[in-house]
This record gives sequence, structure tokens and C-alpha cells, in this order.
Amino acid sequence: MSNTLSIPFLRLIRIMRILRFLFALYTIRSVISLENDFLGCYNNSPGKVISIEQYVSTPACIKLCYSKYYRYSFIAKESSCSCSNYLGEQVFNGTCNECHSCDYNSKAPPADTYATGNLVPGPPKNFVISNITENHVRITWQEPESFIEITKYRIKANVIHTYSSYSTYSPEWTYSNNTYQTELITLLPATKYNITLSTISPDGDGALVFRVIETKIDTPDSEPNKPEVVENRGQQIDIKLLPTSNNNGPITSYKIIVVNEDLNQDFDPSTLTSYHEANRNQLSYYVTAELSPTDITKIFTIGDGQTYGRYYNAPLESDVNYNIIVALVSRLNGVEKVRYSSGAITGNGVSILNVSDEQMEGDHQTVIIGLSVAIGLLTFMLIVGIIGFIILKSRVVNRRHRLSDNQELTLQGPMIEVENNGYIHEDEPMPVNHYRNLKQRVRTIPVNQLKVEPTNLLGVGRYGRVNSALLQEKDSENVIPVAAYTIQDKKMSQETRKTMLQELDLLIKVGKHENTVEFLGMCETAHLIYIALEHGSLNLKDVLLGSRDALPGRFSNMSESRALEIAVQVARGMAHLDNCQIIHKQLCARSVIITSNNVPKITSFGIAQYFSHNKIPDYTRWTAVEVFKNHPYNRKSDIWSFACVLWEICALGGTPYGSVANNNEIPERILKGLRLPQLQYIDDDLYQIMLDCWQLDYDERPTFMQLVDSLEYLKHNTLIPHVNFQLFPNFQYEQFYPDMELAVRPIF
Ligand SMILES: *[C@@H]1O[C@H](CO)[C@@H](O)[C@H](O)[C@H]1NC(C)=O
Ligand SMILES: *[C@@H]1O[C@H](CO)[C@@H](O)[C@H](O)[C@H]1NC(C)=O
Ligand SMILES: *[C@@H]1O[C@H](CO)[C@@H](O)[C@H](O)[C@H]1NC(C)=O
Ligand SMILES: *[C@@H]1O[C@H](CO)[C@@H](O)[C@H](O)[C@H]1NC(C)=O
Ligand SMILES: *[C@@H]1O[C@H](CO)[C@@H](O)[C@H](O)[C@H]1NC(C)=O
Repeated sequence: MSNTLSIPFLRLIRIMRILRFLFALYTIRSVISLENDFLGCYNNSPGKVISIEQYVSTPACIKLCYSKYYRYSFIAKESSCSCSNYLGEQVFNGTCNECHSCDYNSKAPPADTYATGNLVPGPPKNFVISNITENHVRITWQEPESFIEITKYRIKANVIHTYSSYSTYSPEWTYSNNTYQTELITLLPATKYNITLSTISPDGDGALVFRVIETKIDTPDSEPNKPEVVENRGQQIDIKLLPTSNNNGPITSYKIIVVNEDLNQDFDPSTLTSYHEANRNQLSYYVTAELSPTDITKIFTIGDGQTYGRYYNAPLESDVNYNIIVALVSRLNGVEKVRYSSGAITGNGVSILNVSDEQMEGDHQTVIIGLSVAIGLLTFMLIVGIIGFIILKSRVVNRRHRLSDNQELTLQGPMIEVENNGYIHEDEPMPVNHYRNLKQRVRTIPVNQLKVEPTNLLGVGRYGRVNSALLQEKDSENVIPVAAYTIQDKKMSQETRKTMLQELDLLIKVGKHENTVEFLGMCETAHLIYIALEHGSLNLKDVLLGSRDALPGRFSNMSESRALEIAVQVARGMAHLDNCQIIHKQLCARSVIITSNNVPKITSFGIAQYFSHNKIPDYTRWTAVEVFKNHPYNRKSDIWSFACVLWEICALGGTPYGSVANNNEIPERILKGLRLPQLQYIDDDLYQIMLDCWQLDYDERPTFMQLVDSLEYLKHNTLIPHVNFQLFPNFQYEQFYPDMELAVRPIF
């Protein structure tokens, strides 16, 4: 029978023997390693001790303490296990490996003490990522449970997935060891990030925690291509569509929108709907088709009577001018963002670009439109002229009563009092046409040269919405991006209109200067007036924060001379405003835009400001000391703010007085003598300039022209680095706290 013991069975026995041998080897190894890690017999540790109540074996206790990032584990009598980063008093350090078998003469029974092998801090606690927007997240955390010393915290944002074709470099930030919150502000939209947080300690990097988050989608960054009219057969129009790219999210679909131009309604995308619904609501525009991105290269026939997506592609009327718009729809996680193309106008069977017989009729229409615009314009000029007269008159009256007329030209200074309510007294002399005077000094933009992007809302200004727009430059084919400020003149109260005109006057007064935003012109449509101002999508604050970058040996990718150059140009712009007798009052890095040619320009004065979302900048941290004493703003108050901006430039966008969390405490602290500190990497000469600007006696402060000179001097004096962005040991960025720089928006 034994012979019949199968060969597989014998094999199994052999395998089991080998396994047992290996297991024995493993046990011996672990015993050896325990002996090596045995440190001796210690009394209770002075540091933080976590006790593990269970009765566990020695290896299990060491493993447990290791997994919780402690350095030492203690096994006392009855196998009670505890962990700590500190050793108590050593009771016995002989050669035995278990304390109860050694002699000791202390009363308190010592514990067998082992090194776990861990040296680094544990993971930070309560790592929370909140307020996730298109490009921003807020991060909070707490100290790890277990650590001896933390040098810094490090946050990395690793891109897992993005729609953006920009370099998917994964940014990294470090923070001082007493920072427990931050805002990451330069993330890409619609991008999945693995955000990790870990500690840096003298013994190595600590354990990390991570969260995967996805930023929200943003409005597509490129405008869809204008549809091309291939053939117009009256009731049907063939168009050719070209695909678009989008860095800010997926391309979900394209919508084709038909606008009946002859009805002359304002295109309001929020009311867009299907053909039937639009008919019911008497809207002159509707969605005629929704197409998937794969269908986009084909020729599409508008008016074929079929249904695309859930839209009926209704036949067109043959004697109507249609405008065809393409909308790029981007949808992700329940958020939808849309961007509209410019329109392709079709006129009676011919694309507008084609000259034909029908052009005559087109010209006829232009004349009619031109006439109505002219009539509207004249009416407006008349009204405005009357108001202008009142303003001028009251100024003259006011001037007699004032020592200085500085105040009336400031933005929020006392408004000029007007005796009457805007009615004209017949016996008064014919008013100077104030508005005409204004108009003579600005460009009147024909309606077709300003293309307002109705869906690209920049924010809300003092007198209405502010949209981005494209302006055709005078006498050229070039288009430049501008901010189009809507002025709903007809809905305005006399009082508001008066203020508005004053502010317009102010802008015109500022005129053209390299370092202030330019008023490019005004454009009147039948319903509203657009004021076109120079626009830059970045402000100085964004640029400074964006320059925080760990290039080898440096902590900013901005050069020192560039930083000083920005300061010089801001001072130049301010000197110009000062020449125009304008007190800005709201100067801070956010009030300076950086154009696409990298030129800083002062904005946020008069009409030239708009606010997005529900927050506006809080200028407390830039405000001069005398204002806190209820003295009026004067031209030297701006000098104080300028020095704060100079500090902000050197601090690469750090928040002034970041250590004072509450804005209400700032005035008192400033009155008691608090000033922004000298950064470690700026020299005495540069800091002295700032101190000069923060003198209590404002007459002692320099003028902007003097500042231009002294900063220019520092910039050219390159032998001594007045500001130095070279990395040095223990370098820390000045913290940026957005909440301290923003306030809830008041209702205009
Ligand atoms: C342990 O050893 C050190 C020297 O290595 C000695 O100074 C100390 O007294 C010893 N402790 C005890 C409790 O024997
Ligand atoms: C998000 O931000 C808003 C305003 O900045 C703040 O009021 C709110 O508390 C924040 N929410 C969280 C969860 O941090
Ligand atoms: C933070 O850093 C400072 C200096 O680098 C150090 O003295 C201090 O102990 C650190 N704090 C913690 C909690 O590690
Ligand atoms: C996030 O990064 C950490 C550290 O690199 C890694 O351990 C973790 O697996 C990552 N998580 C995801 C979901 O990629
Ligand atoms: C003008 O019309 C002709 C024929 O009708 C067409 O071939 C051509 O592409 C059109 N040009 C433009 C710019 O639409």
C-alpha cells in the first residue's frame, strides 16, 4: 500500500517542510532584529505617550508604534504597550533583553524600550480641501499626532487628468511650520488633482496625506469659429462648422443659433430656447440644432425641418437677414459653461462678404439704422448737455467756496451739491454742451466695430454689467480686447447720471498715459451706451503670486529689475493721476492691470472698476494713517498706499500685515505705529523709501515724481542688489490670505 502513496502527496510534504524551514528562519530574523532595537529599560517618558491598552506581543507593539509614526515603544509589565517620541530616565542599560530579568533598583518598574525605526513626523491631521472653484481651492490642516520637529509643510498638486493642453506641470508650495491654512490660486480649470500634504523635518520627509479633487469647469477659453455660410437657398442655409479647442473643460456639444437680425432685439443668451418656445415668447433668436463634436466637420443645413438634439431645425424665411451663431457647450459634473462665436450675417441669399445686387438694399438698411442711431444720439446729447451744464455751473459756485478743488475730482469725495433737480430755467444762458465737449475728446465707436461678448461677463461695475469685448482699432483691421462697461442711460436717475458723467469726465481727463488704463471710446446702441476701456485679464496681484516659483536657487521667476521696473511704472501712472489732480484712494496691487504687453496700468478709479462674484477688495491694509484719524484723503495718502504696493511687489503678492488677521484691528495698530516689516531680502535703501512714504506728517512724504527718480536710481544701480530673489536658508514666502484682502460687496 505504501508504494501506492502517490507522488503528488510526497511532493506536498516536501513543500510543507520547506515552508516550515522558511518560517523558522523568519522568526529567528525577527528575534534578532528585536534584540538590535532593544534600547534598555526606561521609566515613563516625559513626552506625549499614547497607551495601547491591549495585551500585545513585543513585535506587535513595536509594529503598532511604528505604524503610528512614533520612535519608541515601551512594553511594561503584563505586556501593556505604549508609544512615545521621547525616552524617560534610563533605569538599566546592561546586556539583558527583558527588564524583569535584569536587576534594577528603581521603585517604579521600568519598561522594555525598543526603537521602532521611525524617525519622521506622522501625517498632518484633519487635511480638508474646501471651496473648490475653477482655479482655486482652500486647504486647512493640523499638526500631525506624532512628531519631534517640523521644519515646513509641503503641498504638491499633481495633475491626474486635465482638458488643458498647457504644460501639466505639477506645482509645489512650502509653508512655515506654523501655517495651517492656505489657498492655492493658480490651478487649471476642470482638472483632477492629487493634492498631497506632508511635513519636512530635520530627519526626513514625514508621512503624507492626499486628496483627489477636481476643479470646476470654466467658460471655454477660445471662441468657437464663426460658421461659414456655404450656400444660402432662402429657406435653407448650408453652413460649414470648424472644430474648436477648449482648455477649460470638455467639449460636450455645439449649438447652432439663428438670430433674426431684422427684429433688432438684444441677444440675451440666458433666454435662449427652442424654435417653438422662442415663437411663443416672441424672441427673435432660437437654438436650431445641438450637434455632437463628431458631427462638426460636416456641412450643416439650417432649416431642413428635422430635429437635432432636442431642437427643431425650422425652415427659414427667405426675405430675412439671419445671423448664425455657434455656441460651444462644455458640461461636467452638473456645471455647464457656454461660449458663443461671433455671428455670420446672411443677407437675402448672399453671404455678407459677397458683393451683389442685393447690397443696395443692405445699404438702404444701413442708412435707416444710421438715422435712428443719430436721432437717439442727439436726444441723449441734449439731455446730457443739460445735466452737464448744471454740473459745470455748480462747480463754478462750489469753487468760490472752497480753498482747493481737489476734493471734487476725487472718486468718492463729497459730491457736488446741485440746487435744482435738473430742470432748466428758461432765463439761464444756453448751457455749454458738456457732453459734446466730452465727445470731442473721445472716439465714437461705430456699433459694428465693437463686438461685445454677451456671455463673457467680467463683473458688475457701478452703472451696469461689464463684459469683455473686441474693439476694432481705429483705421486698422486689428482688434484688441477691451472691457465694455454698459451704461443703461435710460434707466438712470438724474443723480446717478450726474455722478456717472463726472466719472466719465475724470476718465477723459486722465487721457492717454502709458501707465493708466485708457478710455478707448464710447459706442451707442439703440438701448445702451458702452464705454470701452483697456482691458488686461491679469492684475498685478495675480502676476506677483504667479511668479512664486521654485526655479533652481530662486524663489521667483520674476527678475529683480522687472520687479523694480513695475514699481517705477506704477509710480509713473500715479504721478500722472496726481498731475491730473486725481486722488486714487484705492491703490493696491489689485488696482493695477498688466496688459498682454506686460505693461502695468493703474485702474480702479472712477468708472474703471468692476467686481466679480460677491466680494470686493478691502483697502484697509493700504490706507494711510491720517484717514484712520478721520482726516480727508489727500494726494499724499496715495503715496502711503504706493509704498504698500512696493512692499507687496517685493513680497510677491503677500498680504500686508498678514499676522494681524482682523481688518478691524488694523487702524488702531497703524495709529500705534505698526508699519510693514523690512523683508529679509530687501536692503536698507529700498526699505527707507517705503519708510519715507509712511511718515505721519504727510508733507514729509515724497512725491510720485521723486519716487520715480529714486526707484529708477535703485533699478540702475545694479552693483548692490536692493531686492534679491535668490533662495536662502529658511526662506519663507510672505503668506497670502485672500479673505483679509476682500470684503462683502455693497449693493450699488
Ligand atoms: C548606563 O550606561 C551609562 C554609560 O554608558 C552610564 O553612565 C549609566 O550610569 C548607566 N545607567 C545605569 C542605570 O546603569
Ligand atoms: C468658502 O468661502 C467663503 C467665502 O470665501 C466662506 O464664507 C466659506 O466659509 C468658505 N467655505 C469653506 C468650507 O471654507
Ligand atoms: C518651527 O520652526 C522653528 C524654527 O525653524 C523651530 O524652532 C520650531 O521648533 C518649529 N516648530 C515645530 C512645531 O516644529
Ligand atoms: C496621490 O499621491 C500619493 C503620493 O504620491 C499616492 O500615494 C496616491 O496613491 C495618489 N493617489 C491617487 C488617487 O493617485
Ligand atoms: C461668394 O459667393 C460665391 C458663389 O456664390 C462663393 O463661391 C464664394 O465662396 C462666396 N464668398 C464668400 C467669402 O462667402
